[in-house]
Amino acid sequence: MTTVLQLYQNQVKNQDEVTILGWVRSNRSSGKLGFLVVNDGTVFDNVQIVYKAEQLPNFLEISSLRISSAIKVVGKFCLTPSAKQTFEIQSTMIEILDQASEDYPLQKKEHSYEYLREIAHLRAKTNTFNAIFRIRSSSAFAIHQFFNKNNFIYVHPPIITGNDAEGAGESFVVTTRTDNNYAEDFFGKKASLTVSGQLHTEGFAQAFRQVYTFGPTFRAENSNTTRHAAEFWMIEPEVAFIDLSENMTLIETMIKHIINYLFANNRHELRFLNNNVDDKLLARLQNVIDEEFVRLSYTTAIEILQKAVANGQQFENPNIFWGMELQTEHERYLCEQETKKPTFLFDYPKEIKAFYMKAQDDNKTVAACDLLVPGIGELVGGGVRENDYDKIVNRCHELKIPVADLQWYLDLRKYGYYKSSGFGLGFERFVMYVTGATNIRDVIPFPRTPRNLLF
Ligand code: 4AD
Ligand code: MG
Repeated sequence: MTTVLQLYQNQVKNQDEVTILGWVRSNRSSGKLGFLVVNDGTVFDNVQIVYKAEQLPNFLEISSLRISSAIKVVGKFCLTPSAKQTFEIQSTMIEILDQASEDYPLQKKEHSYEYLREIAHLRAKTNTFNAIFRIRSSSAFAIHQFFNKNNFIYVHPPIITGNDAEGAGESFVVTTRTDNNYAEDFFGKKASLTVSGQLHTEGFAQAFRQVYTFGPTFRAENSNTTRHAAEFWMIEPEVAFIDLSENMTLIETMIKHIINYLFANNRHELRFLNNNVDDKLLARLQNVIDEEFVRLSYTTAIEILQKAVANGQQFENPNIFWGMELQTEHERYLCEQETKKPTFLFDYPKEIKAFYMKAQDDNKTVAACDLLVPGIGELVGGGVRENDYDKIVNRCHELKIPVADLQWYLDLRKYGYYKSSGFGLGFERFVMYVTGATNIRDVIPFPRTPRNLLF
């Protein structure tokens, strides 16, 4: 058995006999000659199979093979240096393993992304989704590779938790009951799906210094946007002894590593997406590798936005003031119009950030950073953690966060917690960024969003 990947990797010699298993992408024939384009799943690119009536007793049957049918091909591998594709297979035998039925929904015409979401179980068979999900897989590998190379320990924090890490009350309850009597429930208390692995991971950073998680995260935010999913994957590193500036450097280095990996390993997929989905993709990614990310304080960002409004920039929310929560339109203005690069904002007002952010001497800001990128807005959120036990307990009281379930987390501060910083990278937003996809529903295999639980 030969894979199409082996053909592209020059592992097969001209005129060698090969056997291929795969699915028909297209089929055309005229008279006594036919061409099948076949994808076998092992590589993004297809292989062309030539078939002739003089060779195949089942020529007529093969001529009527439908798209997505599974076949076995035996034939001769032929280099075709002058043709569009650099090789083809001259078949001597084609066996139909499964003829696809006539109602296969992905016939050769273009389909809308909306329609393809309704057939998420089939859409990976299209070039676009094949490219996106290959890049998703490569990105995940590159992330693990980056942390492994840099001596980080991979931690698996729990998915069922007893606290809402971000304090935003956006968690899904986990229960075996039909009433709300959590005291009698499975855990004897209210449990929910994790909204972030950070709190548990902080504990591990105090033992291993450099750790990260990469796992599913759940948020019951009822925000039906192109960038929010109820179930998404997050990468959360946590590092003891580093400050905000080093944290931003870590974010930048990691992102550049992943994109370099994609350039080295997924050129064909990226080129396809650049030609068919977003014609600025390759230039944008090259720019990310080549340029240093910009760093702006939140205060400077507010001044820039105020100036922009004064100069006639139209925002849906034009009321810009220090202390406000920036909307996506503001974040996108900053990185798309002002800096035209990935841009960190740092030193946010404490009121708009989570309870665990480290308070600064001005008593107004916390050592937090977000990374904004063109086309997406917020890609990463992170910062330095409050290491002072009394301060973090007071902050919980100010925000009326019940400390009982968090006592273990607060207690970490008592045992050598000198400094710790980390961040969360939304994996789907990253995959959008590196594929040019404009909707989060198109970069996760089976998306979960409000009022949408298909498959
Ligand atoms: O900014 P967030 O809420 O930060 C945290 O969860 C911290 N605990 C991270 C840390 O410091 N360890 O979320 C981090 C990132 C966001 O920047 C965004 O990219 C992504 O997670 N994200 C979502 N992605 C898809 N759907 C949603 N509903 C998301 N909510 C956040
Ligand atoms: Mg955030």
